[in-house]
Amino acid sequence: MTDPDPRLARLTGVAPSILASDFGRLRSQVEEVVAAGATTIHIDVMDGHFVPPITMGPLVVDALKGVDAVLDVHLMIERPERQLADFAKAGADCLTVHAEATPQLHYALGQARELGTLAGLAVCPGTGLDALEETTELVDLALCMTVNPGWGGQKFIPSSFDKIGRIAERLTPGAVLQVDGGVDLATIGRCAAAGATSFVAGSAVFGQADPGEAVRALQAAADAGVGAVGG
Ligand code: DX5
Ligand code: ZN
Repeated sequence: MTDPDPRLARLTGVAPSILASDFGRLRSQVEEVVAAGATTIHIDVMDGHFVPPITMGPLVVDALKGVDAVLDVHLMIERPERQLADFAKAGADCLTVHAEATPQLHYALGQARELGTLAGLAVCPGTGLDALEETTELVDLALCMTVNPGWGGQKFIPSSFDKIGRIAERLTPGAVLQVDGGVDLATIGRCAAAGATSFVAGSAVFGQADPGEAVRALQAAADAGVGAVGG
């Protein structure tokens, strides 16, 4: 057996989403949360088609090169397989594509790995787990959307707790189970207890007066959630 990719371990824990950051001082905001212990930075790419807003592209990934964290790129774009190479070249460590965004899902996940990144598969709240079942061996990270994608600051969808558990049962050992949307101090512990290992948080980090302290508090609440299950 080959050793697991070292980026997988760094993908676990609180993953601040820069969507909620102050772009005028992006680099220093990111460095602040990394200094507080975040080992992943989550980058939300939206194309105005898969979801209505347009956000950022490879240039922003490139701007974060050299930060001491895994660059986790969440592609909320149609036909992501056409853009993977540009994001890999810009410095992405993990490329996550949506099951709903391409008829070529198996190909897209394989391409992400071919390009030297980890491969992530995201599912929207209304999407079942068929695609995950067909591609499990290609999935390094499964992203369970816990809001409908497109905007920060939405309310966590409670039926997600059950879905997280069902995804956990299907993943290969060592794969990361990420939750994204409405993750805050009130929801993170239950996500961890249900089996999530990566916790994307935008408003709950960069929307707070002290983003570094917010990362530490969220991580402690996630750890307590896992502890609660362990007894
Ligand atoms: C939403 C994005 C999220 C967003 C989460 O479509 O995928 O990553 O930044 O924002 P919060 O944590 O504010 O719900
Ligand atoms: Zn996201």
